[in-house]
Amino acid sequence: MTSATTQLNGTHLIFFSPTQTSAKIARAIGEGIGMGRRMETDLTLDEQTSPIEMNGELCVIAVPVYGGRVAATALQRLQRLKGNGSPAILVVVYGNRDYEDALLELRDTAVQLGFVPLTAGAFIGEHSFSTPELPIAAGRPDADDLQQAREFGKSSLEKWEKLQATGTPITELTVKGNFPYKQLTPGAPACPTCTDGCFACGECIEVCPTHAIHFSEDQSSIETDIHKCIKCCACVKCCPNEAREFNTPFAAILHEKFSARRQPELFF
Ligand SMILES: Cc1cc2nc3c(=O)[nH]c(=O)nc-3n(C[C@H](O)[C@H](O)[C@H](O)COP(=O)(O)O)c2cc1C
Ligand code: SF4
Ligand code: SF4
Repeated sequence: MTSATTQLNGTHLIFFSPTQTSAKIARAIGEGIGMGRRMETDLTLDEQTSPIEMNGELCVIAVPVYGGRVAATALQRLQRLKGNGSPAILVVVYGNRDYEDALLELRDTAVQLGFVPLTAGAFIGEHSFSTPELPIAAGRPDADDLQQAREFGKSSLEKWEKLQATGTPITELTVKGNFPYKQLTPGAPACPTCTDGCFACGECIEVCPTHAIHFSEDQSSIETDIHKCIKCCACVKCCPNEAREFNTPFAAILHEKFSARRQPELFF
C-alpha cells in the first residue's frame, strides 16, 4: 500500500507502438487527464539503455499485446523506466482477439519498476495483420474508443484526487489475467516481403523497431533480417506504395473468428 500524499508533477505518456494504436490510446488518455505539463516517451525506436527517471508524474504506460502477453520488445524497453513511486495508468492494446495475461503482466512489471498502479485498461486497436481484404478491427481505435480513453483518463485523475483528498492509500489494483502467464509459443521466423511496387524509398527502414530492414548493397532494393523481425507490421502499414505485405494464415482466421466488436475493459 502506498500513501497518496504527494502532488502530481504533470503527466508522462510512455509507449511502445509500432503501428501507433497504443500511442493513440495513450494520447487520448492524456487529453482526458488534461492537467499540467505533458511529457511523451516513445520507446518504439529507442534502443538506448540509460535509465528514465520518473519524478512524481501521473504516468500512462501503453503497450501492444502479442500472443496474449505484453509484446516482448516492449517489455525489454520498459526496463529502463524507474518509477520512483509515481502513480501509473496501465494500458494494453490488442487486436480484438483477446489480451489474456498481458494486463496482469504489465501490472506486475510496473510494480517491479517502482510504479504504483492506479488504474488499468485493455483497449482495442486495428490488428497488425489486418489488411483491406481481411480486416481485423480495422480503423480502431475509432472515435468511440478514443472518447472512452479520454473519459478513462479523467476518471483515473479523479480517483487520484479523491485518494489524495482523504489521505487514503492506494491498494493493490486487481486486473484480469492469470499467473503463471500464458506460455509463449515461438512461431516460425517470418517477415513481410516486398512486391514489385517497392521503389526502395527506405521509409519502412525508418519505422522498424528492431532495425530488421536495410538497403541492399547496391541500394536498389531493401532486405529484411527475418531473425530480427518481430512481425509488428509497421513497415507494411507505412509503405506509401502498398508494396509491403505480410502473408500469414492467421489473418484469415482472425478475420473470420474475431469480427465481433469487443469493447474496452477498465479496472479501478
Ligand atoms: C506478433 C503479434 C501478435 C499479436 N497477438 C495478439 C493477440 O494475442 N491478441 C490480439 O487480440 N491481438 C494481437 N495482436 C494485435 C496487436 O495487439 C494489435 O494490432 C495492437 O493494436 C498493435 O499495437 P500498436 O499499434 O501499438 O503496435 C498481435 C500482433 C502481433 C504483431
Ligand atoms: S516503404 Fe514501401 S516502397 Fe519504400 S522501401 Fe519500404 S516497401 Fe519499398
Ligand atoms: S521488418 Fe518486421 S520488425 Fe521491422 S517493421 Fe517490418 S514487421 Fe516490424
